[in-house]
Amino acid sequence: MGGIPEGDISSLKTPQAESPLGRSLQLFLRLLFSPAAPPRQEETRVPGLLRGSPTRRGDWALGFLDGIIALLAPSGLSPAQPQAASLRPLLSDGRSLRKGPVFGEVPFPGVLRPVQPPEARARPGGGGAAFILLARRRHGQRARQAGMAAAAVLAGLALLAGLYLWYYYKVVRGPKCPNETRLRGKTVLLTGGNSGIGKATALELARRGARVILACRNKERAESAVHDIRRESGNNEVVSMSLDLANLSSVQSFVDAFLKSEPRLDILINNAGVENGGTSPEGFNLAFQVNYLSHFLLTHLLLDRLKHCAPTRVVVLGSIVYIMGRIDLQNIQKPVDGLLKSFQAYCNSKLANILYTRELAKRLEGTGITCYAVDPGLVKTGIFRQHPIWAKLLLDTISWLFFRDPVNGAQTSIYCATQKGIERFSGHYFANCKVQEPFPKARDDAVAKKLWEFTERMLGIVE
Ligand SMILES: NC(=O)c1ccc[n+]([C@@H]2O[C@H](COP(=O)([O-])OP(=O)(O)OC[C@H]3O[C@@H](n4cnc5c(N)ncnc54)[C@H](OP(=O)(O)O)[C@@H]3O)[C@@H](O)[C@H]2O)c1
Repeated sequence: MGGIPEGDISSLKTPQAESPLGRSLQLFLRLLFSPAAPPRQEETRVPGLLRGSPTRRGDWALGFLDGIIALLAPSGLSPAQPQAASLRPLLSDGRSLRKGPVFGEVPFPGVLRPVQPPEARARPGGGGAAFILLARRRHGQRARQAGMAAAAVLAGLALLAGLYLWYYYKVVRGPKCPNETRLRGKTVLLTGGNSGIGKATALELARRGARVILACRNKERAESAVHDIRRESGNNEVVSMSLDLANLSSVQSFVDAFLKSEPRLDILINNAGVENGGTSPEGFNLAFQVNYLSHFLLTHLLLDRLKHCAPTRVVVLGSIVYIMGRIDLQNIQKPVDGLLKSFQAYCNSKLANILYTRELAKRLEGTGITCYAVDPGLVKTGIFRQHPIWAKLLLDTISWLFFRDPVNGAQTSIYCATQKGIERFSGHYFANCKVQEPFPKARDDAVAKKLWEFTERMLGIVE
């Protein structure tokens, strides 16, 4: 009665372990505990091993398993019924071990003391339940604590998953443009339509039947996008034209070519943008020039055509980052170095775009041209591609989890280009396919007017 001889361990049998669940658990626990188990010894002869770390780890692991199974188990297996069933390993002569689980041939360290089997051990179908109860009874308090820890971890994970799903469906994904407005006979000019939000916008407008002109700086990328959009929309009225917004003279030549070749312009979408720092060939801050200044000039040069084709629309890409933007007319156009300063310049350019749209709407009142500033949300695109690899990796990871895809990011641009009845909101800021009131700095008409006049002087435009 003092212990189990090593050779006899293989003769241990658990009736419930013959079930598939029992066998799986046996195998799992054998794998779990075998490597760490001390040499087989009769525990009564080496008592120091009884409270060793492997035993604690085993207790915890069993309790953890117990807790997880208990979470999923039917209510019939509640701790209030500890005597209901048992998976206690049995000796071949019908005796069982009081302490120290034995899983197949590998004894878990503990005092092996044969006792009479509990009455309820033969409860039919109670293999899983019996195992839980065995762990619960054997490891008592510790197992319950581990079970509670497991429950807390699972509840925490479930809560996080629920919050993420809520955030994804409410915030990340955003609403779809609700209208189906057809655009047959309309011409759309869109800057930077070869990737990201611009490409997704162009595709949807082409699907609706518009003639779409992508104004892009890179011929190869532009042609590839044209090919994709034609194929996916089935609309061959998609073409590209060369425009480099980092260069004011390119804007002028683009407009000359456009006015010669295109009789109509119904929707102008000032979409192209850069987020990285740098200096344009004309010595301006790159983000300021590409995102704001060149689009100001482009729109200015196309106004007569827009008036001629009225009712027409101008859609200008802003961004939520305008809230960090500043309009400092002494410095806004100056090139800057470094990630943070470049990002600040990007925010400034987006605030400038929102104020510009406001002022443009005022100046175009009664012309039949309306304009809208758009926040597309946070969108997974190549906008961070110029960053150093570490920043790109970080931003890509964040955007993979928390940013919407370009199709969802295009919805507010599509809405502002096509939604009937929003003309009275000309000059306003739109996000998630709704008009929104931006922070006061983006509603400051005095600053908007000063910025307009400053830009006109910079471009040598006289009204
Ligand atoms: N992604 C966002 O989370 C987010 C949020 C708010 C607002 N936005 C705005 O959404 C707009 C589209 O950005 P995106 O996110 O779709 O990024 P994207 O995929 O990088 O698209 C930017 C587009 O602008 C073009 N572009 C850049 N520099 C140009 C230049 N000098 N001349 C002509 N085209 C130029 C790019 O052409 P290349 O391929 O040749 O570079 C590209 O087609 C931008 O105005 C951006 O500020 C984006």
